Amino acid sequence: MSMKKTTLVLLGLFSFNLLASDALISLGERLFNDGRFSRYFWQNSQGQVNSVLKNGETHLDVLVTPLGAVASPFMGETTSCASCHMVDQAFGGPSDPGMRTYSDFAPIAPIPSRPDLRTHTARNTPVLVGIGSPYNTNRFSHWDGEFSDHSETVLGNFTGRNMGWLKSESQNALKNIVTVLREDNGLAHLGPEFGGSYEFVFRSNASTPSEFRLDPSERVDIKKASDQEVILAVTNAVTAYLNDLDFQKNEKGEYNGSPFDQFLLTNGFSTVPKKGEAAKHFTERLRAFLKNLKGPKFVAEKDFPTHNKKFGFGHRELQGAKIFFNLPNHSGNKGSCFKCHAAPLYSDQSFHNIGTSQAIYDELHGFGAFLQKYIPKEEYRGDFYLNQAADRNDSKKMDLGLWNFYNRNAEVTEFFKKENCLNSPCSLEMTIGRFKTAGLRDLAHSNPYFHHGRMADLIGVLAHYMKIGIQAREGLTRNPDPILKEIQINGRGLQYLHGFLNSLNEDYE
Ligand code: HEC
Ligand code: HEC
Repeated sequence: MSMKKTTLVLLGLFSFNLLASDALISLGERLFNDGRFSRYFWQNSQGQVNSVLKNGETHLDVLVTPLGAVASPFMGETTSCASCHMVDQAFGGPSDPGMRTYSDFAPIAPIPSRPDLRTHTARNTPVLVGIGSPYNTNRFSHWDGEFSDHSETVLGNFTGRNMGWLKSESQNALKNIVTVLREDNGLAHLGPEFGGSYEFVFRSNASTPSEFRLDPSERVDIKKASDQEVILAVTNAVTAYLNDLDFQKNEKGEYNGSPFDQFLLTNGFSTVPKKGEAAKHFTERLRAFLKNLKGPKFVAEKDFPTHNKKFGFGHRELQGAKIFFNLPNHSGNKGSCFKCHAAPLYSDQSFHNIGTSQAIYDELHGFGAFLQKYIPKEEYRGDFYLNQAADRNDSKKMDLGLWNFYNRNAEVTEFFKKENCLNSPCSLEMTIGRFKTAGLRDLAHSNPYFHHGRMADLIGVLAHYMKIGIQAREGLTRNPDPILKEIQINGRGLQYLHGFLNSLNEDYE
């Protein structure tokens, strides 16, 4: 059975409990950090799931960051979800490169070496904070919409190439998960910190310490459960953990961590949609609010310790917000940003082509190379070369984004058709170069940027938008989003927008 089918069968059996207990969330955290689901551990532990390996995976020895290579917090360990989706693992040490919002520092992440062509992930590790937001209504995941729900992504990751498993090995990967869960004795591998063996915590009873005690409906006797039920229990716990990841909110559930949030709240505007209000509608209301705001109360700069910087919301940031929301401003610029980056997460969770794949391809292979590039027909999808990072030494590699999954993932195809093809027929060409709109909260904790991770900083991102507006108007962009033609940014506007994006930072911890 293919992995995809297994996933769907599993999902069919299960309804996810959105009101997970704190104990289930902490169990998810433990699974997320456990390095025993990597193929390397499976191969080197020889069935002794409680053993601690002498050597870790070499690709985890150093952490490549914008400050250069630093000592890796994962030295001597084996791959876990956390080795790419980090929070404070590398923060606060002697060669501290900073906090993360469940992403890493690299443009693309190194993966275990196996007998295939892959050495790195095809794309930049995305932020996972915000995945659990109630406003993250559509749950397509991966930059190209490969999966329709984060729980599918979780299972796909546990059994996939990031953990070292080749496609032909997913049955081994599943078997390994079941063995680790059943045979874990709780004495090593996070057991002591997380309440004991998996079997003990999953079974939970009155003797389980209360912070690890699952609700009765969440309990599974993994010694008795079928293999499939064990896999489900794992997926469920990790999904519960991911569903708990959101940016800072007050007791009313309003975002309040960033200076822009504080600015809105101080001036009497709630930072979240009303019950049942769509993000687009909320964004229009926010726009109208900013347009009509008289005598705004600004937010003074203050220290954000996890950034080691000061951020506030003053005149400059307000000018940036006005460009972002297409309101009259001092630079006469127009960003049209809000049309895709809808509040409150600053993503419409849809797929757009903003010329990022083309820009990187052309940078490596010459201006105009992507525009002229012949792209094979539908039957070539799934081809290794078409969802790969562009590579100076191999012009066959390019990343076509959504194109890879249109008509392959039924849900994303239906979603795309509904959004784009009500009046005219959809074509495969329309999906070229589209990627999921990234959210814009706390960006200073997730550099580098874009799906390819080749944009080191926000000035570079804004310079891309400056150029792409012009290029789209001149007809030099392949399959551009029509909104790109509206974008007009000059040097002054770029500085304002930079200020605004910085005012969305917070001390995510
Ligand atoms: C080798 C690094 C690496 C490891 C290990 C890894 N991930 Fe990821 N993760 C990525 C990358 C890169 C992407 C983006 C993939 C893409 O879009 O093609 C991603 C995407 C995701 C997403 C989708 C986010 C979104 O908004 O689209 C989720 C959820 C996720 N990973 C969870 C996990 C879990 C759970 C594990 C452990 C089982 C894990 N990851 C292990 C690198 C990694
Ligand atoms: C047509 C839709 C659209 C418009 C308009 C748009 N964006 Fe984006 N934005 C996207 C998409 C899609 C991505 C992800 C693209 C990729 O990585 O290839 C993105 C990525 C970004 C990123 C990088 C985030 C990350 O984590 O990598 C930033 C920052 C950003 N946009 C800011 C802006 C600003 C500022 C504006 C207005 C000047 C703007 N965007 C206008 C769709 C849009």
